[in-house]
Parts: sequence; C-alpha cells; structure tokens
Amino acid sequence: MIKKPPGIEDIFPDKITKWNYVLETAKNIFKIYNYKEIIIPLIEFTEVFARGLGDETDIVSKEMFSFKDRGDRDLSLRPEGTASVVRALVENGEYNRLALNKFFYFGPMFRAERPQKGRLRQFNQFGAELFGSDHPFHDFEVISLMNDMAKRLPIKDYELLLNSIGCQRCRPNFILELSKYYESHYDQLCQECQRRLKKNPLRLLDCKNKDCQKLKEDAPKISSFLCQDCQDHHAEVKKYLDSAQIDYQDDFNLVRGLDYYNKTTFEFVTKALGGQNAFAAGGRYDNLVEQFGGKPTPAIGFAAGLERILLLLDDLTIDSVALDAFLIHSGGKTLEIALEIVNFLRQNNISVDLDPVNTNFKPQFKRADREKAKIAIIIGEEELEKGIFSVKNLISGTQQKIVRSELIEFFKKNF
Ligand code: HAM
Repeated sequence: MIKKPPGIEDIFPDKITKWNYVLETAKNIFKIYNYKEIIIPLIEFTEVFARGLGDETDIVSKEMFSFKDRGDRDLSLRPEGTASVVRALVENGEYNRLALNKFFYFGPMFRAERPQKGRLRQFNQFGAELFGSDHPFHDFEVISLMNDMAKRLPIKDYELLLNSIGCQRCRPNFILELSKYYESHYDQLCQECQRRLKKNPLRLLDCKNKDCQKLKEDAPKISSFLCQDCQDHHAEVKKYLDSAQIDYQDDFNLVRGLDYYNKTTFEFVTKALGGQNAFAAGGRYDNLVEQFGGKPTPAIGFAAGLERILLLLDDLTIDSVALDAFLIHSGGKTLEIALEIVNFLRQNNISVDLDPVNTNFKPQFKRADREKAKIAIIIGEEELEKGIFSVKNLISGTQQKIVRSELIEFFKKNF
C-alpha cells in the first residue's frame, strides 16, 4: 500500500461539513469587512520567500519544500501567503495603483516541520492582507475581523496577545541591548540561539528551548525602546480595541517567526491546542512592498490555521446537508422507472440518489438512512401496477401515496 507522506492529511466528506462551515463563516466576515478574494499560486520562485520572510527565519532556512524545475530555476511550495500577495500586488499594475487594497485568500501552505497535533506539513490558512494604510484603525480592523470570526465560530477560551516590535528607527537600539544581554549569557543559550545571536538576535525571543525561555524573562523589553511614533501608534491600536471591548494581553516577547514585521504583532492563542497554541496570527509589515520593488506601501494582515481551528471545534455539531430523497425499487421494471424518476428529479434541482444493484428494500432503506435522506420514494411491484408511488417521510415516519405528476409539487410543499 502506498501511503501519504508524513504531516499530510486526506480530508474525507465527514470532515468537510465543518471545514466548509469554517470557510463560509470566514468568507462571510471578510465580506462584511469589505475584503476581496485573491488567488495566489502554490509555487513561487524561492526568492519570493527568501526575500520576503528572511533568510534566517526557521521557515526559509529549514522548512521549505524547494526544488529545481526543468529549466534549473529555484522554486518552492508556498509556506505562507503574505509574500506571494505582495509579489502579486507589485507585479500587477492595476491594483498596485490603487490607494487601498484589502485582500483575503484561502488555501494550502507547506512547511517541512516536525509533524504533531496541530502541526502539519501541508496545512490550510485563510488570511487577509490590507495595503496602503498606516492608520492604527486598520491594525484594529484586521484584529477585530479575526476576533469576530473566533467569536462567531465559536472558539472558546482564547486570548489575544499583542505587541509592538517598533520600526526601523527604534528597533536597532533594542536589538543592540538585546544582543548585549544575550552575549553576557552566551553559555546558557542553546546551540541554535548561539548561532541566531550572530545573525538575527530578535529570533532569540522566539526560541522554545526551556533554558532560553527562562533567560527571556529578564531580557530587555521592546516596550522601553519604542520611538514616539511607534508608541503613539500602539496606544491608538489599543484605544480602538478598548472601545470595541476586545480583550488583549501585552506580550513583549511576541516577535513572530517572520522578519517582515514592524510595529503591531498579534496572536490568537488557546491552551486547548497545547504546544501549537496559536490558531491565528499576524502583524504590520510596512516595508515589504518596497522590498519587492513596489512603491512605499504600509500594510497589515493575518492568517489563521484551518486545521487548528477544526481541532478547537471538535464538540461543535453541524447538520450535514441531507439528501432530499432516496429512491427504493425492487429491480426489473421498477428500477427502470426509478432511474427515470432520479433523472427527472435531478433536472428539477431535487437532490436524490438510488442503489441500482440492491433490489432488497432493507439494505436500500439502510443506505437511505446513512445518506440522511429526508424522503424515501418507494417503487415496488404494487406501486408499478397502480402507477402511484409511496412516499415515506424518513424524519416523521409518515407515509402517503402520490402520482408521478404530483412529485415536484410534493417536494415544493414539504421543503
Ligand atoms: P504564521 O504565524 O506563520 O503567520 O501562521 C499563521 C497561522 O497558520 C498559525 O497561527 C497557525 O494557526 C497556522 N499554521 C502555521 N504553521 C502551521 C503548521 N505547520 N500546521 C498547521 N497550522 C499551521 C503567517 O503565515 C503570516 N503569513 C501571517 C500574516 C499575514 N502576517 C501578516 N499577514
């Protein structure tokens, strides 16, 4: 038997009902907030992510599925959506000229992480990216959008973590102090952090190693280094959150695992997910469009992990879409008529199915049950003779006889 690779899932119909429910809820809220759908490619030149996310990030340095195509070009499966949306915006003249763009996307992302509960190698994100505004209201808007989604789904007992990681003006001072602090504790750092210290000291605040986590407690805090502009921006974001009564926790170590962020960073977390506690995350990235060759365009966005959200909605029951009718026959001429009726009903937008092989009523009724059919239309020898069908309501158990010409009217009246 050939199996699927590790960290990759098949999604069977029993999961799809909830899957679609989450997506429909998300799409609804995107619409309410006036975000428009964009479809971005699964494959990009590796450069898009190396430049966008940063060479030193875990994602780029060790988690991408990269390969050469037949033309010897370096390509990668997308590990996230933001860099692709930025690349697409800069490449597209028409949208690039607009003052404000609000996009949302959905689809699979690929990261070669160690698979565990809530951490897959192929997973699905839905996300939003807003371009052309540095107004703190828009930081609030994307946070509020994700918060509305979490409430509406509903996800229980989650927290919103909030930070500002400053800008190109104030962050260097912080990084200098951070480096000094960690250099003085160099021997206590894990090997990876000793390496990070030279290349990208901010990443040390991201480390999951226990000893490094402990060191983090006394590390300098970005909040003491923010310039006036960043302080004001952060205070405004909080003001909007407060007036919308959206609770948040300050988390001064929330630097996020991607290099493109500045100012606002945030994560929606819950203990129910264990180690992989974030089900949505994002932040501001005012310099990325320019880095991709576009005109200076402030931006902010977030992405949510669909599989993690589904884990959180385990207890939620959603009625799967039921079948309108299941046709039950006893073979021979009754099957011929049943097939005719199936076609007729489908042409009239009534969802219907039948089993052309089984001629016993019992297994056919069982199948009708399994398919959650609302009505069984029975065409037996007796029905054939008299030219009328027995119609059984499988929910109430009531049964009646109707002639063929009344079938459509019957469905119109009953559903
Ligand atoms: P991220 O934090 O890397 O941010 O991913 C966002 C969400 O995707 C996570 O909170 C998590 O729910 C889900 N996720 C990430 N990795 C995995 C995985 N291996 N398995 C299952 N779920 C996963 C981004 O991707 C940024 N692009 C978000 C953003 C958009 N920032 C600004 N705009």
